[in-house]
Amino acid sequence: MKKLAIATIPGDGIGKEVVPAATKVLEAAAEVHGGLSFEFTDFPYSCEYYLQHGVMIPNEGMKRLQNFDALFLGAVGNPEIVPDHVSLWGLLIKLRREFEQVINLRPAKLLPGIQSPLANPKDFDLMVVRENSEGEYSEVGGRMYRGNDEIAIQNSVFSRRGTERAMDYAFNLASKRKKHVTSATKSNGIFYAMPFWDEVFNDVAKGYPDIKSDSQHIDALASFFVTRPERFDVIVASNLFGDILTDIGAGIMGSVGVAPAANINVNGKYPSMFEPVHGSAPDIVGKGIANPLGQIWTAKMMLDYFEEEELGKLLLDVIEGTTESGMLTPDLGGNSSTEEVTDEIVRRLRERV
Ligand code: NAD
Ligand code: IPM
Ligand code: MN
Repeated sequence: MKKLAIATIPGDGIGKEVVPAATKVLEAAAEVHGGLSFEFTDFPYSCEYYLQHGVMIPNEGMKRLQNFDALFLGAVGNPEIVPDHVSLWGLLIKLRREFEQVINLRPAKLLPGIQSPLANPKDFDLMVVRENSEGEYSEVGGRMYRGNDEIAIQNSVFSRRGTERAMDYAFNLASKRKKHVTSATKSNGIFYAMPFWDEVFNDVAKGYPDIKSDSQHIDALASFFVTRPERFDVIVASNLFGDILTDIGAGIMGSVGVAPAANINVNGKYPSMFEPVHGSAPDIVGKGIANPLGQIWTAKMMLDYFEEEELGKLLLDVIEGTTESGMLTPDLGGNSSTEEVTDEIVRRLRERV
């Protein structure tokens, strides 16, 4: 029996609704498998925890989390009670950084039965490799006051090592897919970092002669994501460009509630973390209508990570069967609840035993 110890951190808002939904699905998936079991341990780190303890996560919590096979996180953020830069840097970004989860993998793919906002979408299936540890999300800069005048400086740090690492990851991934990597750049407008990014991309591409490579400026790329998403296979992007592109990816799938993600630790020193693209959705919290598919598809990415690709594929099949049947939450134009969609997925999974 393969036993996996998973730390669940529901976090804030709808994280508390979709994480339990997805763990239920994972339990059912383990039953279908027969030789796999999950041991979930729940952690309360959230904005409420911050109000009680003055930290989003204590040092001792970081130490405990290190020992798990993976982290399964919902969402962080409740700006009504804790400013976002405090909660996100105190938990989500802290986990990504300290556990060296340097790659953020975010697929976008058309699911049957979901109406894309695109009028005639072709069958797109792309993967964004987002650099997850530096770039525009760097803690370098400051705020300065000169009398009544105030300025904020935000520096971006692009290391050759971090940039190459993301690009190598993208090329390796493309070698198992449609053998095409597109680099998201902005070397016409960002003076130092993006010409450097292009240079590294061209160098890395030379090591993969069988993989087609090209570059697109991020502004044009954002437009192509809407007009011709089927053109893309793997896209490698800096931290901020990848963040924004993957919400466009989510948008063309029909809702950010569907989009999954994986924060990958590539050196094996720390656990990887699986958390969907969406946030805590304060506008729908407590209504029972949060779309669980993003978190459930994220669970599929976790299965793939544990080399349970067959089970991962089965789970995606079941997700697709469910969307095709028209059982959808309101963000996708349906009228089903979180629970109904989850139970349908569990039911369809159990049919496969
Ligand atoms: P959001 O993703 O929480 O919500 C954007 C919109 O999408 C909202 O209308 C919301 O109702 C909807 N939505 C999101 N997920 C959904 C789901 N599963 N089902 C149905 N509808 C869904 O983004 P936001 O409003 O910009 O941010 C809200 C809070 O979440 C902020 O505190 C923000 O910083 C945080 N946030 C956290 C993460 C994360 O933890 N990874 C990601 C994004 C935003
Ligand atoms: C995401 C989120 C986070 C990010 C925020 C909440 C810090 O938008 O996971 O996409 O920008 O990485
Ligand atoms: Mn985002």
